[in-house]
Amino acid sequence: MNLKQEALQKLINAGIEPNEASIEVDLLLEKVFGFTKKDILLARELNFDSSKFNSLLEKRINEKIPVQYLISSAYFMGEEFYVDENVLIPRPETEILVEEVIRHSERSEESKKIIDIGTGSGCIAIMLAKKLPNAEITAADISEKALNVAKFNAEKLGVSHRINFIVSDIFQNIDEKFDIIVSNPPYIPLKEKENLQIEVQKHEPPLALFVDDEQGISFYEKLAHQTTQHLTKPGLLAVEIGFSQEKPIKDIFIRSGFKNIEIIKDMSGIERVVTGKF
Ligand SMILES: C[S@@+](CC[C@H](N)C(=O)[O-])C[C@H]1O[C@@H](n2cnc3c(N)ncnc32)[C@H](O)[C@@H]1O
Repeated sequence: MNLKQEALQKLINAGIEPNEASIEVDLLLEKVFGFTKKDILLARELNFDSSKFNSLLEKRINEKIPVQYLISSAYFMGEEFYVDENVLIPRPETEILVEEVIRHSERSEESKKIIDIGTGSGCIAIMLAKKLPNAEITAADISEKALNVAKFNAEKLGVSHRINFIVSDIFQNIDEKFDIIVSNPPYIPLKEKENLQIEVQKHEPPLALFVDDEQGISFYEKLAHQTTQHLTKPGLLAVEIGFSQEKPIKDIFIRSGFKNIEIIKDMSGIERVVTGKF
């Protein structure tokens, strides 16, 4: 059995699903040791510093560190982002939120002022800057460390001159108005922490995940309330939501004066994005 197969078996024995385990081993070989996919496919026996590889594998298995943090890299909408434990690992379902904002922006000829609240790695703001060349983008986060990661990614992906970065608790340090407000906020009730994967519980930033109310909706309440002072008319609020939060969040949108509320499902048929016009 070669090193790749051995590694794969160790991850599977540690409870990682076989397809995911295979992706993770390939990612470690590609990103840390510079092998190409072809090298991995063709090589019967890969020659490299196996002690470094085994130490990463141990961190993955024993400390449950997500592979994205081990390789400092995660993909989002086909682009590679730097990630560390100061930021949430971008999730594929968040791409739906970005696509919805792009669809809305492309309907009008005018350039748009857009703010991403809780930017984390910067994945939403950066992809909007890349896909909407005329938009003026602001990226805000309460965590300065997260914002530094977002700045680094914007530089790496060639859009830092297009994005204004602000440390702010929602809109506290922001006076301007925007045409579109987008956010993937923390929405997991703290009491559900124990039900999450160990990888998420132990390694992703709590500030990015948890809110301290029963339904996980307190951030949306604050956001929708403050948004009404910061949206131009007509304007759009677009948010990602958690499992079965669509009803309470639709109610929050209605109470805050939003109209034409739409709920968009993800690939698994779960309500994932809510948009409303103001
Ligand atoms: C779920 S993560 C989203 C990160 C990134 N936008 C994404 O979609 O992958 C939520 C982000 O909101 C930030 N955050 C938490 N509370 C905040 C607040 N009161 N004001 C602004 N940002 C906040 C966190 O630091 C974290 O980066």
